[in-house]
Amino acid sequence: MDVLRSALPLIKGPAVIIPVLRSLHRPIKALTSIHQRHGDLVLARFFNKKLLFVRHPEHIEEVYAQEARGLLSRDFLYEAKKSLFGDGLVNSKTEIWTKQRRLMQPIFTKEAISEWEKVFIQEATRANARLLSVAPGPINLSIELKQLIQRIFIQVLMGRSVDTLPNSKELIQAIEIISAGLLLQIVAQIISNGTLMTLMPSKNRSYHAAVNQLSDFMSQEVTRQQQTAEHSLISVMQQASDTKTGYSMTPMLLKDEAINLFFAGQDTALNTLAWFFYLIGRNESVHNKITNEVRKYQDVSLNAANLEKMTYTRAALYETLRLYPPAAALATQAIAEVAIDDFAIDQDTIVILSMYAAHRHPGFWEKPNDFYPEHFLNLTSETKRHKYAYFPFGGGLHNCIGRHFAELEMMIIIVTLLRVFTFKTSGDIQEAASITLKPNKDIIADMSVGFDLC
Ligand code: HEM
Repeated sequence: MDVLRSALPLIKGPAVIIPVLRSLHRPIKALTSIHQRHGDLVLARFFNKKLLFVRHPEHIEEVYAQEARGLLSRDFLYEAKKSLFGDGLVNSKTEIWTKQRRLMQPIFTKEAISEWEKVFIQEATRANARLLSVAPGPINLSIELKQLIQRIFIQVLMGRSVDTLPNSKELIQAIEIISAGLLLQIVAQIISNGTLMTLMPSKNRSYHAAVNQLSDFMSQEVTRQQQTAEHSLISVMQQASDTKTGYSMTPMLLKDEAINLFFAGQDTALNTLAWFFYLIGRNESVHNKITNEVRKYQDVSLNAANLEKMTYTRAALYETLRLYPPAAALATQAIAEVAIDDFAIDQDTIVILSMYAAHRHPGFWEKPNDFYPEHFLNLTSETKRHKYAYFPFGGGLHNCIGRHFAELEMMIIIVTLLRVFTFKTSGDIQEAASITLKPNKDIIADMSVGFDLC
């Protein structure tokens, strides 16, 4: 172990306790204020837990490196997430995770996910037709985007349309209950090892009932896929086998992975798109630049190579992910004494990677709090930022396996909609407490067909 410079002062008292308490309601504001008041690396105590908040890209890189060496681990959240995620990638412990990740990695490469391109285009085109039937006028974009993402994901995952699902209403209701309750389950685990949930028995009961309902549904879906010839992500995973070891998934693991993908892959993309349209809708000059670019490529097919050419549109998407990263904070735990920036961090300390605050770090961004897609344009070796100044898809071992899927899906939706519509948004939308960083209100846009080129 390296010689440590000194112990990091433990910040106690109202300065940190109050923001941490407030964090239960406004986690993002609390994270930001902790770093603004105390700096890049902040050690706080909450009840009898030590929490280390990390914002600087170099420290974030150190955390990922220590995690790769097995000195930090996410296993402490295993119990809180187990009923929902089982042993899928989002939750599994090292041994199962390593086998599953090896098996699933080839299914999510840039090349492999291009097979879902036609589903993205088909559903985005269908959404355009629906919007055209109600344009011009005000539109609830949050609802429209949610339906679009759900349709895409169910089609990809299960190889069939949401319209053919039995009990689809009940299923969607169960998913809403789980999405609303998951953050509480995780926070309760972090601050009280789960005992907090016993104080809210009815919330806890309805959460677990919804989890059981989803789990039963997905088990039946896995069985159904074994008996049909439908092409779907579930069937692709079913057939996957490790070329070296012959390892393949049991039906139980397959069900877990389907649920993991279902949750990791929908709200993340949905919330990013909601923020994207909110931001461009209130920023006419950015909207015009994107529209001009989209119009320049009006007739090209929407494959990855053509979308790659739309550099300004992509920069605006990345800028959205900078300002509103869906996974605004990530948690891991020291399982031995570790050193971060030469400070000794005690075993059991919970380490919070403050992604939201890192993405707005004044030392790394020209306009930290503004929507400024130019942050991602014309980067040279001098202006290129540290790898972890921007990491919306995480990093290290557990980086997002669905990144290429998400980027292709989101770009296709954005370009398809902006080929036809212009959106104006107003009002003050804030970040809401949720497992992914979502807008606190639905995004209502004034939608018109066509646009004035400038
Ligand atoms: C805007 C879209 C998305 C964002 C910003 C995002 C972000 C992230 C982040 C930050 C992590 C790392 C979490 C951690 O370190 O604990 C992650 C992991 C993961 N993501 Fe995504 N994600 C997105 C879309 C997707 C999609 C579309 C899928 C699947 C189709 C997906 C599947 C996963 C899975 C399975 C993991 C766990 C990986 C592992 O631990 O090996 N994500 N994602």
